[in-house]
Amino acid sequence: MPQVIFLPYDLRLDVPRGTSLLAAADEVAEMVDDDFFLGELCEGRHECGNCCVEIVEGADALSPMTDSERRLLAELGRGPDTRAACTARICGDLTVRIPNPVRHAGRDRAQMQSHP
Ligand code: FES
Repeated sequence: MPQVIFLPYDLRLDVPRGTSLLAAADEVAEMVDDDFFLGELCEGRHECGNCCVEIVEGADALSPMTDSERRLLAELGRGPDTRAACTARICGDLTVRIPNPVRHAGRDRAQMQSHP
């Protein structure tokens, strides 16, 4: 079972192969009683970017980036070490850093709601 290390909490989570990074992060958020993804607004439609996380190690242990995810990250000016947690599926061991604060990483709610 793949293991994901979540920074800055240094929490290790074993997850079934194919689990979304967002689901794993949500589990960690509950463990630390924190709100990583208050911006989880678009439910994987690549409109918000609020689920973006930094991949510190093991980028190859994630499912390939989709065109839609790539477009969103480019639009947000994110570097190659960023993934949309809603889309990335865990295939092996990796280390992820939850940006602080994630909730301010993407577009604001009003801007997103005006997006078709
Ligand atoms: S939830 Fe909006 S881009 Fe991932």
